[in-house]
Amino acid sequence: DGDLLSRTADAAVDGRKSTTAAAVVALDSNPPKGTRDFYPPDMRLRSWLFDQWRSVASLYGFSEYDAPVLESESLYTRKAGEEVTGQLYNFVDKGGRNVALRPEMTPSLARMVMAKKGGLPLPLKWFSIPQCWRYERMTRGRRREHYQWNMDVWGVSGIEAEAELLSAMVTFFVRVGLTSDDVGIKVNSRGVIAEVLAELGVPEDKFASTCVLVDKLEKVPLDEIREDLEALGLERSTIERLTSVLTNTSIESISGVLPPGSRAIEQLSALLDLCDAYGIRDWVTFDASVVRGLAYYTGVVFEAFDRRGALRAIAGGGRYDRLLETFGGEPTPAAGFGFGDAVIVELLRERNILPSFEGSGFDIVVFAMGSDLYRAAVEVASVLRAEGRTVDLILEDKKAKWVFKHASRNEAGYCVIVAEAEYENGEVVVKDLSVGEQRTVKIGALGDWAKEAFQS
Ligand code: HAM
Repeated sequence: DGDLLSRTADAAVDGRKSTTAAAVVALDSNPPKGTRDFYPPDMRLRSWLFDQWRSVASLYGFSEYDAPVLESESLYTRKAGEEVTGQLYNFVDKGGRNVALRPEMTPSLARMVMAKKGGLPLPLKWFSIPQCWRYERMTRGRRREHYQWNMDVWGVSGIEAEAELLSAMVTFFVRVGLTSDDVGIKVNSRGVIAEVLAELGVPEDKFASTCVLVDKLEKVPLDEIREDLEALGLERSTIERLTSVLTNTSIESISGVLPPGSRAIEQLSALLDLCDAYGIRDWVTFDASVVRGLAYYTGVVFEAFDRRGALRAIAGGGRYDRLLETFGGEPTPAAGFGFGDAVIVELLRERNILPSFEGSGFDIVVFAMGSDLYRAAVEVASVLRAEGRTVDLILEDKKAKWVFKHASRNEAGYCVIVAEAEYENGEVVVKDLSVGEQRTVKIGALGDWAKEAFQS
């Protein structure tokens, strides 16, 4: 027993030694590759962006929803050769379940709609700002996690849904100071591909994989795609026909090479016409080469881009009328978009139209000149906070010079100074930092002063 006890004691000492040793190993202070920390200025920027997204979404009557960042892997294992399915952050959890961090929100949304078994009143207009995870090769504007504003309409089969979505997107661009000279939205319809395939007798089950491959045309040499399309079972002549149709740059020219009465072209024309009614026609251009890389799109697809062409797609979306069916649900029309937080911030920064997020922007800094007056400073801060003002109370003895510098760095509007001579008269000194002027205010009148100063 004695032996056992001493051995246990030794082990405990060893354990302590190794903990101590482990503690000295320098910790890598970087977050995992491709992910970000949000220090307060970054967080202020993020909140500002989310506020813009939220307010535009509610302006259009959309309701916010959310879902877990961890989902069942099977939600994403589609077999159409999409890039995103190869980029999953997936693992087996302690209960042996195959799970994944969501790479996008749309499958979660479909799952939520399906869970209600038709019990949700349609149409529904929902939005969300999920963090999404993709094991990406990192390039400018591509990271391994990003936040993505999603707006989706379920239950509307007409292009009225797409037009409303495009308009919301443009409203956001306008609000943050961008114009149609900065940003454009390319629209197309996968219906064009469907019609070409139908005309040439290609079975419908090749549609999604064909679209995913055709999407790569912009990034991968045509010869490679051609091989993949042939491997999929498409004839060479079909491939030639598809690639030649998709090089058309106007509705007129593409309708000339499609069978007469093309429904896809009819819908695109109607969509562009509605864009005119919304007053956003300048922002939108037809581009047959936009196909998008996700398998589930069935109709109109669109992508917002920087007109200078330096950045990756700002946002993308489209119609996905069959996604619910692929999950075993009832056919339900749906359309939506995803809008990432990376490219847009780069663009706003590049154009120099991003507000400053350096300071906290509190209304008032309160400080006591000397620790004897600290209780009085607490009371002053409490009065101002009760008035609804944001107050940074200086918690330690600091020199006035330090406090003024701190206040200006944080873009505070006023400093309220509790100083001995004035305090004896029942007053405090109020400095308006925007003009640098000082005056005294009776402590009992501080509430009224705050009301007037901030016009609340
Ligand atoms: P997506 O095109 O894969 O579509 O992503 C939408 C947007 O999310 C992109 O245009 C981009 O702004 C941003 N994004 C995607 N991946 C990254 C990344 N690795 N780093 C930074 N930003 C990224 C979808 O995800 C669809 N679920 C959108 C949708 C909603 N369609 C219908 N409803």
